[in-house]
Amino acid sequence: MSAESNQLDALLSESRVFPPSEAFRAQANFNDPSVYERAAADPEAYWAEQAQHLTWFEPFTKVLEWDPPHAKWFIGGKLNAAYNAVDRHREGPRKNKAAILWEGEPGDSRVYTYDMLGREVDRAAHMLHHLGVRKGDRVTIYLPMIPELAISVLACAKIGAIHSVVFGGFSAKSLRERILDADARVLITADAGWRRGGQIPLKANADEAVAGTAVEKVLVVRRVGEASGAKMTPGRDVYWDELAAQMPKTPYPAEPMDAEDVLFLLYTSGTTGKPKGIVHSTGGYLVGANTSLRSVFDLKDTDVFFCTADIGWVTGHTYVVYGPLTAGATVVMYEGAPDWPHRGRFWEIVEKYGVTIFYTAPTSIRTFMKWGPEIPAQYDLSSIRLMGSVGEPMNPEAWMWYHEHIGGGRAPIVDTWWQTETGCAMIAPLPGLVAAKPGSVTRPVPGISAAVLDEEGNPVELGHGGYLVITKPWPSMMRTIWRDDERFRRSYFGKFPGVYLAGDGARVDEDGYFWVLGRIDDVINVSGHRIGTMEVESALVDHPAVAEAAVIGRSHEVKGQAITAFVTVKEGVTADEALAKELKQHVVDKIGALARPEEIIFTAELPKTRSAKIMRRLLRDIAEGRVIGDTTTLADPGVIEELKKLYKEND
Ligand code: WTA
Repeated sequence: MSAESNQLDALLSESRVFPPSEAFRAQANFNDPSVYERAAADPEAYWAEQAQHLTWFEPFTKVLEWDPPHAKWFIGGKLNAAYNAVDRHREGPRKNKAAILWEGEPGDSRVYTYDMLGREVDRAAHMLHHLGVRKGDRVTIYLPMIPELAISVLACAKIGAIHSVVFGGFSAKSLRERILDADARVLITADAGWRRGGQIPLKANADEAVAGTAVEKVLVVRRVGEASGAKMTPGRDVYWDELAAQMPKTPYPAEPMDAEDVLFLLYTSGTTGKPKGIVHSTGGYLVGANTSLRSVFDLKDTDVFFCTADIGWVTGHTYVVYGPLTAGATVVMYEGAPDWPHRGRFWEIVEKYGVTIFYTAPTSIRTFMKWGPEIPAQYDLSSIRLMGSVGEPMNPEAWMWYHEHIGGGRAPIVDTWWQTETGCAMIAPLPGLVAAKPGSVTRPVPGISAAVLDEEGNPVELGHGGYLVITKPWPSMMRTIWRDDERFRRSYFGKFPGVYLAGDGARVDEDGYFWVLGRIDDVINVSGHRIGTMEVESALVDHPAVAEAAVIGRSHEVKGQAITAFVTVKEGVTADEALAKELKQHVVDKIGALARPEEIIFTAELPKTRSAKIMRRLLRDIAEGRVIGDTTTLADPGVIEELKKLYKEND
């Protein structure tokens, strides 16, 4: 872990501490420090108390059943996620409060009050029902960041269907793989999406993806219109607006769901080439999401919450849809890129809507740093009172820049560690109680027990690196991997029985603060997005010119990590610039633009152990320019010198 160690040394020498101001502490939802001890002494009681912030159709009779690795929370409880996120607010003073302030990339905008949102969700639920969707069915959603994305998610929840949102940047092949795995009956997509003035051909991708799958109906939102050139297949495809016009204007009754019924699947990358369908429950997930908004994000009724993540990722599920809406917040949802049509777009949105809580990723912050502080300085950001970060370790320089240039030196920062699998923020400060240290995610939130273990499962000494684990079940934990419980057991509970293995390395300092070092498995974190090295390798070897490929993540100034691929070609193939370009495009076609290798290095051989395992760590050392240590386990140590030379030439 030498790169991480270097980074860590820098982090550990970070001595700046930012305690909450008196003013912030005084107004914070969570400002009694005893909450930590209370929750630690009786986590079940703590979570049962938090669960009271949701509306239950039938109360739960037992808080937890723990049969590792399977947890059941809020047993016997019945509830509906869409009812909690929307309908219950329609019945009270929030009826005409803005639920979603939506900003389109080309400059169009829409406002949905809770009541209006509720009507749209009802109409969409009627549509899904009309298309044959019933409780427990899977619906795949492949949409841009338009209101219909949130509406579709909530409509599924309302009728008890399981949604599987696939990020719009994924290719037709990735979409297809996810549709097949989930066995979805209906796909919701758009004619196309806007991205930096250009179009993403969502419908064309969808057409390619659904052929020969169980998908019977495709519901198509008109986003771009005529110019998209989208083609409709009669009998299978129907336009959202046309079907909506035929639907009754009556409310769609919320399906009472068991707390343990599946709310959604969300695919994420693991160590093998096949993405995992992470399964989340209705009750536990919702309690986690809702609690997180009130605790970590100190959410008040007056807040305007802007999370820049796409709903295609878990951050968007929890912090654009379920968390803020169940808490009755006003959410800002933005369709496009931060630099379209100009580099001040986020700040323009903050100013326009008076955003009070802003949540983004370190890669964005580093990009803003590169663009310079003059850009945010042109906007009034004084409404911001709290900021968050998620996705990868935040370097102290980025933290300080965020603090100074976006937060005006005033707004606390919550650096939140969590994962698709954990459902909501797990290690993060409660901003009214915990002093921040730039680069640290501070301490586990109340009700969560985290630790750092060594190879044998013992807690490591202070300051030493080890495996980040969660030692007790928590409400929003994943329940299993869709149709692969064995993989769930093996991947997350196989190393330390009964203990959840996160797949990250971490250290704890003398104040009990956690410092996340990054992934310890074959997962790369590019701009906060998880990509499996195996997925990219499979895409590469799928190309007829490629014999073998080894993919690694090397550190990158802005993206956190970038993908480097070492490739050997088949006999007679010319490995040139043109082929490198073609291979990059091949990966984009197979997976999506987010997996495009930054560089492809052709080599005659890959470094392998005598048992023929590719030594990826060594490749990383080469790519990051480190001195190579012991290579005695290599079958052919000569390979290293050759690779080092090649890498230099490529630079
Ligand atoms: C990384 C995103 C350091 C980590 C919510 C984790 C972080 C993976 C942080 C999950 C953070 C997330 N500091 N690393 N604050 N937050 N990570 O599933 O490696 O897309 O395992 O969920 O992102 O990525 P995922």
